[in-house]
Amino acid sequence: MTHHVVLIPGDGIGPSISDSVRKILAAAGCDIEWHEHVAGVAALAKGRDTMPDETLEAIEHYKLALKGPCSTPVGEGFRSVNVTLRKRLNLYAAVRPVKSLPGIKTRYDDVDIIIVRENTEGLYSGVENEVLPGVVMSMKVASEVACNRIAHWAFRYATLNRRKRITAMHKANIMKLTDGLFIKCARNVHKHEYPNIEYEEVIIDAGCMKIVQEPKRFDILLLENLYGDVMSDLCAGLVGGLGVVPGANFGEHAAVFEAVHGSAPDIVGKGIANPLALLMSAQMMLEHISIERDDAKAGAQSAAIKQAYEKAIMDGQKTKDLGGELGTDAFTDAVIERLKG
Ligand code: NAI
Repeated sequence: MTHHVVLIPGDGIGPSISDSVRKILAAAGCDIEWHEHVAGVAALAKGRDTMPDETLEAIEHYKLALKGPCSTPVGEGFRSVNVTLRKRLNLYAAVRPVKSLPGIKTRYDDVDIIIVRENTEGLYSGVENEVLPGVVMSMKVASEVACNRIAHWAFRYATLNRRKRITAMHKANIMKLTDGLFIKCARNVHKHEYPNIEYEEVIIDAGCMKIVQEPKRFDILLLENLYGDVMSDLCAGLVGGLGVVPGANFGEHAAVFEAVHGSAPDIVGKGIANPLALLMSAQMMLEHISIERDDAKAGAQSAAIKQAYEKAIMDGQKTKDLGGELGTDAFTDAVIERLKG
């Protein structure tokens, strides 16, 4: 069964890590026809908007995309690429598994946290204005529809994946209406529909401390948009950094898989970018294909890819960000060798 997937290589390190992932998926025998489209600075370079309509239409059509990181030029009036993508396609649920990997030494060796982030509202509403000269305002938006929708999504995910507990982190003591609504919806969904999943609420500043002190106490984190963004990078730091945290954005009609990290302008062109987080995102995509399209082969390929990169890491074949010596291409070859062997 051929699967059609939109590929957005992205900016900065994006094209090189996308290339690596394509090679590894091809070596694993994945039957994917890639449809390449641009976004971000790459789109601007072609005289297009940062998130061109054809790119969005292609994702709507094929329903699946693998996306490299995209840069949005700061302070020049451009719409954020990622915010536009998530809003236009209504990709309301971001899921980011943060898991310790064997062979990557960190302070903790047993982190297994799933971040579920509301992807369309909060302070990323994009509603900002100048109230008076020298006074600007950014509007935090929360709607009952979106808060209920993400709460349902998180509890359903917990049930399907046999996870035990959801922790909603918030600042409802200060933002009584917006964060208040967020936790009220989560509480109701828990009480009326999923009483068998444990549920707790933690104020986010104390939650940050607790999570770095005792990460294994946490299972699924349910977060509004900005908190989810910040917490993703914080949790990445617990398992070895941004090079090992994948992600997916789900909506009713499409799913876009992408790493948590950005375009890493500080290492562009050095050949040292770690393609693993994007590879893990592609592996999540194969799992999604296997479940949603009942394609057992995609599930087996996902498992084979996971086994190959874990073996490479256990053998000490790591990129520099993980304390190894390999560049992007050498790590790609190391994974492919283990896929074949
Ligand atoms: P970043 O994630 O690009 O970089 C943070 C640090 O992590 C840098 O030192 C970088 O070298 C390192 N890093 C990130 N990914 C790596 C990888 N795969 N291998 C090795 N090292 C890696 O975050 P930053 O610098 O805040 O953002 C840079 C640009 O990326 C901005 O234009 C931002 O808007 C964009 N961005 C895009 C995202 C997306 O498309 N999903 C997400 C986050 C940022």
